[in-house]
Amino acid sequence: MKSKCSVLINLLVLQNLAVLCVSQDFDFFYLVQQWPGSFCDSDKSSCCYPTTGKPAADFGIHGLWPNYNDGSYPQNCDSNNPFNESEISDLISSMRKNWPSLSCPSSNGESFWTHEWEKHGTCSESVLDQHDYFETTLGLKQQTKLLQSLQSAGINPNGKFYSLSDIRDAIKEGTGYTPWIECNEDSSGNSQLYQVYLCVDKSGSNLIECPVFPKGKCGSQIEFPTF
Ligand SMILES: *[C@@H]1O[C@H](CO)[C@@H](O)[C@H](O)[C@H]1NC(C)=O
Repeated sequence: MKSKCSVLINLLVLQNLAVLCVSQDFDFFYLVQQWPGSFCDSDKSSCCYPTTGKPAADFGIHGLWPNYNDGSYPQNCDSNNPFNESEISDLISSMRKNWPSLSCPSSNGESFWTHEWEKHGTCSESVLDQHDYFETTLGLKQQTKLLQSLQSAGINPNGKFYSLSDIRDAIKEGTGYTPWIECNEDSSGNSQLYQVYLCVDKSGSNLIECPVFPKGKCGSQIEFPTF
């Protein structure tokens, strides 16, 4: 990407084109959603409900992460553009509902959103400003309806085990795109449904098939814990 852009710039020496190249300096996004029950009963993390109360039993947003086609990703791209909650004041109630933090100590979400914006969001700021970044991510979550897709296939958060391929198929059926599933382990060492990755084009508008999947492995039978 970088070298293609510099060839073009050398050829054409147009400032507009240089701006275009900067604005495309990532290839796609991962939209990452997490199952709160698996965050909370993992052996690795303790969980604390937000100061605003226990979230609904639904997938919550983890983040929208710019990524490269080779699997690497940019991070912390602009320290001059810190998170500013007043820019998203109209989104706060939706953020609390759809993007809650379950980390300890209990919080209202602000430190989680700050981290997501500063580590990931600043790397797509040429495409999505702060307000657009959060609004776009909230919209993508509504569009993907993960829990409904799973439940339509009879896959429910009831502590039972389901096959990884049935989970994948159900999400593909519901969203039209192949997800990547990240597992963690409960305190007894069972593999469980932790995070779902879907890919989004770099405008943030459309789901796409993932150019590359993250690394990692689930068991073939994975638990879907209650929350
Ligand atoms: C935060 O955003 C508000 C609204 O856009 C703006 O008035 C304010 O100056 C910003 N604060 C900082 C520290 O940039």
